Amino acid sequence: MIAFIVRGMNAVCEKIAYHLLILSDRIRGVDFHEMDESGTGDGYRYECTHPRILKQLDRICHDVMPSDAVLDVGCGKGRMLAFFSRYPFRVVDGIEYNERLAEIGARNANRLQLESKIFCADVREFCFWDRYNYFYFYNPFPKRVMEICLQSILESVKRHPRKVTILYANPTCHETLLEYGFKEEFFQQTAIEQIWQPYLSVLKKYTR
Ligand SMILES: C[S@@+](CC[C@H](N)C(=O)[O-])C[C@H]1O[C@@H](n2cnc3c(N)ncnc32)[C@H](O)[C@@H]1O
Repeated sequence: MIAFIVRGMNAVCEKIAYHLLILSDRIRGVDFHEMDESGTGDGYRYECTHPRILKQLDRICHDVMPSDAVLDVGCGKGRMLAFFSRYPFRVVDGIEYNERLAEIGARNANRLQLESKIFCADVREFCFWDRYNYFYFYNPFPKRVMEICLQSILESVKRHPRKVTILYANPTCHETLLEYGFKEEFFQQTAIEQIWQPYLSVLKKYTR
């Protein structure tokens, strides 16, 4: 019963926090509103990374070095570009195949004076993997597309040997990453996260 009430309160607080965030976006002149399939018109949903994942990412990003470069794979309107730009990454870019989202993302980046580039392309045809050593996925693809990304990253590592890190939120293709030889790095979640974690706020870190 108590757990039920706390969860309900948690959900209400998160809704309020989301609307405050949208309000502050409006004031800053940026648009990170979430959109459903009918909005993007391509069968995929644009959904921003959950705030609980941001807290987990914050802990991981404290290890980032100024030589690191991150790509948000399926970046939508680019909220994560703004997030990653707070850390010492040398480069923070994104790729998004929906033209409308990529355009809004580029406008947002411009308004926030980010140096990020958004490639408007399908990840299946992307050819600049060599530029990055961090790849962020917020569960953007089904398994078959994820496999193509992993294959491309592995080919890139072969061409240009380096340690790569995959940050994977809502990791529905976890097994696939292991099959492709990525090693799951132990990432300590706080006790609260372990108790209240709905599946959506799971973040995993892999290296290779
Ligand atoms: C769940 S949203 C994540 C947005 C962003 N990474 C974030 O966390 O705020 C996934 C995005 O991936 C994009 N996407 C899906 N398939 C793609 C593909 N094959 N190539 C590029 N982008 C793709 C969708 O259009 C959508 O904007």
